[in-house]
Amino acid sequence: MEKAPSLVFLCIQSIKTQLLRGCDNPIPDVYELPPHLFGDLIAQLPALALQNLQTDMPFKSWDDYELTDDCLKSGRKRGRNEKFHRAWKKLFKLRWPELVDSAKSGDWQQIYWERHLQNCLDEAAEAALRPLFSGRIGCINISDNILRYICHEDHANFRNCDCTELSFHFMKFGSYARCLRLLNVFCNTETCELMRACKLQSLVIRWIRSEEHVEPLCKLLTQNLETLNSLELIHCKLSPSVMNAICTSLLEKDMHTNGMQHFSIKTSSLEMDPVSFPSAFISFLKSGRSLLSLKFCDSLLDGHFARTVFSVLLDSSSNLSSLDLSENNISGWLSTFNWRSAADSLLAERSLRSLHVLSLRGNDLNKSDAENLAHALVHMPNLETLDLSDNPIEDDGIRSLISYFTNHPEYPLANLNLENCELSCDGVIDLLDSLSLLEKPLKSLSIADNALGSGVADAIGDFLASPIQSLNISGMGLGSIGFLELQRKIVKELMMLLNINISKNRGGLEAARFLSKLIPLAPKLLSADTSYNLMPSESLSLLCTSLKSTKGDLESIDMTGNSCSYRTDNDHPLFHEFQRNGKPIFVLPKSPASNVPYDDDP
Ligand SMILES: *[C@@H]1O[C@H](CO)[C@@H](O)[C@H](O)[C@H]1NC(C)=O
Ligand SMILES: *[C@@H]1O[C@H](CO)[C@@H](O)[C@H](O)[C@H]1NC(C)=O
Ligand SMILES: *[C@@H]1O[C@H](CO)[C@@H](O)[C@H](O)[C@H]1NC(C)=O
Ligand SMILES: *[C@@H]1O[C@H](CO)[C@@H](O)[C@H](O)[C@H]1NC(C)=O
Ligand SMILES: *[C@@H]1O[C@H](CO)[C@@H](O)[C@H](O)[C@H]1NC(C)=O
Ligand SMILES: *[C@@H]1O[C@H](CO)[C@@H](O)[C@H](O)[C@H]1NC(C)=O
Repeated sequence: MEKAPSLVFLCIQSIKTQLLRGCDNPIPDVYELPPHLFGDLIAQLPALALQNLQTDMPFKSWDDYELTDDCLKSGRKRGRNEKFHRAWKKLFKLRWPELVDSAKSGDWQQIYWERHLQNCLDEAAEAALRPLFSGRIGCINISDNILRYICHEDHANFRNCDCTELSFHFMKFGSYARCLRLLNVFCNTETCELMRACKLQSLVIRWIRSEEHVEPLCKLLTQNLETLNSLELIHCKLSPSVMNAICTSLLEKDMHTNGMQHFSIKTSSLEMDPVSFPSAFISFLKSGRSLLSLKFCDSLLDGHFARTVFSVLLDSSSNLSSLDLSENNISGWLSTFNWRSAADSLLAERSLRSLHVLSLRGNDLNKSDAENLAHALVHMPNLETLDLSDNPIEDDGIRSLISYFTNHPEYPLANLNLENCELSCDGVIDLLDSLSLLEKPLKSLSIADNALGSGVADAIGDFLASPIQSLNISGMGLGSIGFLELQRKIVKELMMLLNINISKNRGGLEAARFLSKLIPLAPKLLSADTSYNLMPSESLSLLCTSLKSTKGDLESIDMTGNSCSYRTDNDHPLFHEFQRNGKPIFVLPKSPASNVPYDDDP
């Protein structure tokens, strides 16, 4: 026989139902409950009921109520909002278990409703995008899948609840939304009204491709100007007039608001008239002392666009920290600057002192571009991170940079990415030499995916003696000979090394021997990627022996794509013996099918 429900349980059920009916009939008596019963109640309410209970709480009643608490007399004072805080966290965890760890905000009530509104919007978008949809966005029904979390578990039985429509959710919880992602269908006057209560800080907009969405978008921006500090446009078609309209709305900010900090355009088409840029866009770039990061990625931008942006920034007193122009076609962008005619000191009068990160990945930059960039570095005296990957700059290109570093050993560069730059062994040997002369040693370097061969191993071995933290030497054709040489070179402790990537090098058993020698020498090593190296099965026992003899922090050794016959079922001893934070250290090939040797020949 089923156990009979307790009286307390029945009371809580009844209060819950009343609370869900909303604010027309508040239940003041509930706030007079003794603390332990009130605590039980809070812990059992669905989100909407909890929200109503918290909102209707008479001011100060919590104080009065705690004074009558015996616990208080015995000196155990509890944080007043602690119970609500814990209840919100529990509800969040129940609904989005996978997001709990990544949720950075501690205000669980706020992120609960923000996330909830995003779920409602994503669901409503499906309805609004149907070709036959012609109704009002606010009237779109929210599914029981969502409602059962915030109202009743069996929501279908409560059809008369007024929470079925999207508009209810924005009216009630809109003020909790700080960050939202919106599709074009939500850029209309009706949605702007719906979102009146939102105080958005960050907005991601997708698929603005026709004029009709632009004005409502601008209205939405204006409406949130006080708080908005980040705007991202993805898959948009941005004509000069659209850019002008958007930037004009952003410029309406007065001096007292916080200002835009992050502006980003990705995978869009940005059609700029080469002769005259939209004036509001230029003013926006010039105006922003607040602007910290600018991104224009994967949007078919040409050298003219990049040059204009760069010179506007140089001439304004910008405080920009990060500029990302990756995946465009900006080759030639610095060619018309007249770097060589003046002395460094004169040139540096125009400068982007604040710039720390520059990404130029995937722009088809050649050796002339690299040479011009080397001249331009004097204008970026605090640059720490430079990404030039996926550009065919070749050895001549890298030599221009080398000569800059040689003449400016004080340059603060910390992270350099030169993946897939068509470099050769000689160029990289010179580079490694010059990098070791910098006053502040590099933290991370990637020279992956350049066909360097085993000849570079000796120089890499020397370089490993520098305090490098992260090194990527994947896909360079080191081979067994290269790894033999590397083994010979490492003799001293590598105190700073955190990550190393030696994947796709056809290293075979020698790659495993190198790694097993490296592990005890690198006490701080967190991860090693040795995938696709044609490693035979005895590699595993080599590495196990090496791991056993060290007390490092190593979290992961990626061994996928090697021709070994490891088993990955949970009975395998490796899973029990070698774990870190509940996860296995060895990432092994999943099935025999993924054991195929990786072929890195083009
Ligand atoms: C929402 O649901 C109600 C009741 O089931 C229905 O009458 C209404 O047409 C639905 N609205 C939309 C936009 O589908
Ligand atoms: C410039 O940006 C940095 C962050 O990169 C910030 O700490 C600083 O306050 C900003 N300066 C001004 C004048 O806005
Ligand atoms: C890249 O720009 C050059 C001119 O600088 C042009 O000739 C070339 O067609 C462009 N490539 C692409 C893929 O747009
Ligand atoms: C590099 O690219 C620029 C612009 O696309 C071109 O004008 C120049 O001739 C190229 N230089 C070399 C050496 O290929
Ligand atoms: C190169 O390797 C380092 C260290 O493992 C890693 O942090 C970085 O993401 C790698 N780069 C790429 C493009 O995988
Ligand atoms: C190692 O480098 C390869 C190729 O560049 C990349 O695919 C892989 O993600 C990198 N591993 C890590 C851990 O970053």
